[in-house]
Amino acid sequence: MNIQGKVAVVTGGASGLGAATASYFVAEGAQVVLVDMNAEQGQAMQAQLGSKARFAQLDVTNETQVEAFFQELAHIEGRIDILVNCAGIAPSAKVLGRDGLHSLDLFQKVLNINVTGSFNMLRFAAQSMAQNQLDGEERGLIINTASVAAYEGQIGQTAYAASKGAIVSMTLPLARELARDAIRVMTIAPGIMHTPMIAAMPEHVQQALGAMVPFPSRLARPEEFAKLAGHIVENSYLNGEVIRFDGAIRMAAK
Ligand SMILES: NC(=O)c1ccc[n+]([C@@H]2O[C@H](COP(=O)([O-])OP(=O)(O)OC[C@H]3O[C@@H](n4cnc5c(N)ncnc54)[C@H](O)[C@@H]3O)[C@@H](O)[C@H]2O)c1
Repeated sequence: MNIQGKVAVVTGGASGLGAATASYFVAEGAQVVLVDMNAEQGQAMQAQLGSKARFAQLDVTNETQVEAFFQELAHIEGRIDILVNCAGIAPSAKVLGRDGLHSLDLFQKVLNINVTGSFNMLRFAAQSMAQNQLDGEERGLIINTASVAAYEGQIGQTAYAASKGAIVSMTLPLARELARDAIRVMTIAPGIMHTPMIAAMPEHVQQALGAMVPFPSRLARPEEFAKLAGHIVENSYLNGEVIRFDGAIRMAAK
């Protein structure tokens, strides 16, 4: 489908990959709803992007909030064509850490935001997309964000890797099920991206991380992720697949 004229919801839209994707979609002529818990940054992004963007403060794990959001969206926009799930957290903790045992709360929190949050958003999005008139061959598209940690989780990433592995594993069964409704499901598994998460690290650490990437030997730019998301929108034959987006990096154990 063309991005132009579509209605897209981007979670985590206040920061990093979500913000870059929202900016790209707006530049390509879409109407974008930025979903995030961070109201200050979300409103700043909305102001930056202008009338084609709207911010909705929402916790993606909250069933009531998300259901109400999609009902309101159907009322305001009439349809939703694209969902990009970028909201996520990436804390690091060892199972047998120096400060004690990995907390069960932290494990559940990571799974809850990264997996349940993405699923919660996509189920309501799919319900809405299934009502759309066909646009060419399709009715809608869902893009989830995994990580190379799904394949090469490092020490301290047990919870995060488990959450991203789940995102990878959901891709095919979702694409198979939603094929009947002409809705595609794709996943992007980024390597090391230059987002606020990484930009907060000291310069020498960022350079060391960049040097680990075979080629191009640098951190990936959020705009490059956004461009890939844009290509997935426009290429209707991409479905049920996970695309590694990582400059050929294969993460070491630590
Ligand atoms: N940055 C990287 O190197 C990298 C690498 C691989 C995968 N990823 C994945 O990409 C996604 C985006 O990462 P990023 O670097 O842009 O992170 P980021 O921290 O810059 O942005 C994440 C956004 O998600 C929002 N968020 C968190 N929990 C939420 C919730 N419950 N409801 C609504 N919003 C919530 C945050 O407020 C934040 O604005 C994440 O899923 C992350 O795991 C990032």
